[in-house]
Amino acid sequence: MKYLQFIGLASVVFLIHAFKLEDTFQKTAPAKPIEERVDSVMKLMTIEDKIGQMTLFTSDWAVTGPTLREGYRDDIKAGKVGAIFNAHTAAYNRELQRIAVEETRLGIPLLFGYDVIHGYKTIFPVPLGESASWDLEAMEKSARIAAIEAAAAGLHWTFAPMVDIARDPRWGRICEGAGEDTYLGARIAEARVKGFQGDDLSKDNTLIACAKHYAAYGAAQAGRDYHSVDISERVLRETYLPPFMAAQKAGVRTFMTSFNELFGVPASGSRFLLTDVLRDEWGFDGFVVTDYTSINEMVYHGIVANDKDAAELSLNAGVDMDMQGATYYNYLLQLVREGRISVTRVNESVRRILRIKFELGLFDDPYRYSDTEREKARVFAPEHLEAARDIARKSIVLLRNEKNTLPLSKQIRTLAVVGPLAANQRELIGSWSGAGDYKQSVSLLDGIKTKLGAGVKVLHTEGCAITGQDKTGFKNALALAKTAEAIVVAVGESADMSGEAASRSDITLPGVQEELVKALVATGKPVVVVLMNGRPLAIPWLAENAPALLETWFLGTQAGHAIADVLFGDYNPSGKLTVTFPRNVGQVPIFYNAKNTGRPMDPQNKYTSKYLDVPNTPQFPFGFGLSYSKFEYANLKTDRSVFNTDSSPLKVTCTVRNLGPYDGEEVVQLYVKDRVGSVTRPVRELKGFQKIFLKNGESKTLTFTLTADDLKFYNRDMIWTAEPGMFDLYVGADSNAPLTTSVELR
Ligand code: GLC
Repeated sequence: MKYLQFIGLASVVFLIHAFKLEDTFQKTAPAKPIEERVDSVMKLMTIEDKIGQMTLFTSDWAVTGPTLREGYRDDIKAGKVGAIFNAHTAAYNRELQRIAVEETRLGIPLLFGYDVIHGYKTIFPVPLGESASWDLEAMEKSARIAAIEAAAAGLHWTFAPMVDIARDPRWGRICEGAGEDTYLGARIAEARVKGFQGDDLSKDNTLIACAKHYAAYGAAQAGRDYHSVDISERVLRETYLPPFMAAQKAGVRTFMTSFNELFGVPASGSRFLLTDVLRDEWGFDGFVVTDYTSINEMVYHGIVANDKDAAELSLNAGVDMDMQGATYYNYLLQLVREGRISVTRVNESVRRILRIKFELGLFDDPYRYSDTEREKARVFAPEHLEAARDIARKSIVLLRNEKNTLPLSKQIRTLAVVGPLAANQRELIGSWSGAGDYKQSVSLLDGIKTKLGAGVKVLHTEGCAITGQDKTGFKNALALAKTAEAIVVAVGESADMSGEAASRSDITLPGVQEELVKALVATGKPVVVVLMNGRPLAIPWLAENAPALLETWFLGTQAGHAIADVLFGDYNPSGKLTVTFPRNVGQVPIFYNAKNTGRPMDPQNKYTSKYLDVPNTPQFPFGFGLSYSKFEYANLKTDRSVFNTDSSPLKVTCTVRNLGPYDGEEVVQLYVKDRVGSVTRPVRELKGFQKIFLKNGESKTLTFTLTADDLKFYNRDMIWTAEPGMFDLYVGADSNAPLTTSVELR
C-alpha cells in the first residue's frame, strides 16, 4: 500500500511541477508575441489570481500615505497581490520576488514600484528646481541616472514624472513638477518619461514611468493639498492635460489618478478622464493605478456610500490597479459574482498589467533587477555625482546681483557663511528624496570650503533656526560678519515644508530668517543671500535690498559644490524661473499667461483691474533669471508676414549677443499673443525656447519655427482649432520680453 501511496504522491508532485514548468515555459518562450504570452498566462488564472494582479500594497519600508497594513508577505504568498511599492534594494526585492515566483501556484512575478522622483541614491535637484535649468537633455539624463540606480536596486517602476501644472505656490506639491507653463511642462514630461523608460524596458537599467497625478491636481482650491478642483473643461484641456498627453505620446506605461475631484467626480471614479479621454481619445494601452487609497477616499468625497461601491465605480471608470486601498482585494470577487462588474472588464485590466510585466522581461527573468553586485557598482557612481552637480548648477537662478556682488573672488581672505541652511545636509535633498542618503550630501559650507581651500578663512554660524523666534544667534553672526570681507547667508524652508500635505498659507521666509538677513545687510558688507526652498516665496524686502540673491531650490546630493561653482564664477548662472514669484500671497494665483480682462490695469484710471496695496506685476516673472553677463536681443524677423494654416512652418529669427564679461548660457524664449479669438486668449503664451551657449562677445542668430498647429486652442464650440488673425511674437529673456514683431495667419 505504501508503495502505491508513494507513486500517487510522486505523480501529483510531478504534475504540479510539470504544470508550472509548462506554464513557465509558456511565459518564458521569447519567440512568441507578448499578447500570446499574456493569453497563455491568463488562461491559467482564476478570478482570484486576476484580482491579485490588480492589487498594489506598500511594504513597511517607507510610509507615503495614511495607512499601512501588516501581512503583505502573506498576501504575496497567497497570490493576492501583484505589485509592491516602498520596497527596494536588490536583496530585499529578490526575497519578495522569490516568494511570488517560487511559492505561489502560478509564479507570476511581482512589480516593484517606488517614488524615484529626483534620483534614487544620487539625488538630483527637486523637479521644480531642475525645470529652472530649461535643459531638456540634462533633465532626461537625470531621470536616466535615477533609473539606472533604481533598476539596480530591484525596482521596475517609478511613480514619476509628476506632470501637474501648478500656479499656486501655497500648494506644497508645486515642488514636484515643472512649474506653471503648459508648453514647458509638456516638453519636460517627455524628457523625464524618456529618461526613466530609456529605449528598451526589458533592459536592466530602465523603469516604467508613471504620469501623475491625473488630472488637474495642481488646481486645488486655495493651494490646499487634496482640496476640490473646479475648473472648466477648456482650462482642463488647454492648461492641465497637455503634459499628460505629451507623456502618453512619449510612451509612458502607467498613469496615476489624482486625489481631487474634477467636474464633481473624484479622478479615481471618473470615466471621463480614465476611459473617454485616456483610452478613447488618446489610445493609451498601459495601466492606470490609483493614488494611495484614493478609491476608499471616494466615500469621504461623498460620491459612494462604502468601499465596495467605490471599487465598482473605479473599476467601471477604468482603474486597473488599486494602490493600498484593498478595495479590489476585498470586494471585486463579490462584485463579479453579483454581476455589478464584468469578468471582461477585469480581464482588460489584468491584460494591461501582465503586458507590462512581459515588457519589463520579468517573465523571462524575474530576478533581472535584483543583482547586488550591479547595485553596488551603479549607486553613487562618480559620473552620476558629476551629472547631479552639472544639472544642479544649471538649476540655480540669479535673481539679483547689485554692483556685481557676484561672482565672489577666490582670493577672498575671510568669508562668513551664515544661516540655518548653510551647513545643513538633510534639507538639501528636498521632499520625495526616497532612498536618498542626506549624509552623502555636500552642504553649502563644505562646497565653499572645498572650493576655496585651506588658505581662506571660512567662518560659520547658523545665526538662527529655520523656524522659531529665537534671535540670540544674531550676535555671533554679526560678530563673524564684522571680521569677514563678504557674507553668504543661506535661508529658506525645510524640506518638509513643500511636497505632499505641505501647503502653506503664508509663503514668506519662516521664523526670523529675514531679520537675520536684514541685520547682515545693515553691516554694509557684500551679502549674498542663498535661498533653499521648494516653492516660490514672497520675499519683497530681499528682492529689493539683497546685494545678491540666488534661488537654489533643494539641489540634491551635490548642492554645495554646485552653489560654490556659481558663487565663485566657475559657472555662470543660467537658470530661469518656471513659476512666477508673487510679491505677496494676496496676489495668488498669479501667472504670466493670464487673460487681459475688459479693464486691464491703468494707473491713471481707478476703474481698472488692480489692487489698492500692491502692483499687478509679480516680484519675479515666469522665465526670469539673470546671468553674470548681459545678453542683447535684436533683429527679430519672420520669413513672411502672412502664413496659412496649411503652409510650411513660419521661420522666426532673432540675434542674441553676449555682451560679456563672461561666457555663458541663455534661455531664449519665444512667446505668442493671439490678438483676437472666438474666446478670450492669454496675454502671452510660451511657444518655444532654446538654451544656447555664447562666449563673451559672441552672437548667434537663432531660428524658431511656428505652425498653425502651434496656435490652436479650444474655440467657442470647444473645437481644437487655429483661427485666422493677427499674432504678436515676442523673443527674449523672460515672459516680459519687449522685442516684438507680428504676423498674420490666414
Ligand atoms: C502618495 C502621493 C503619490 C505617490 C504615492 C505612493 O500619496 O500622492 O505621488 O506616488 O502616494 O507613494
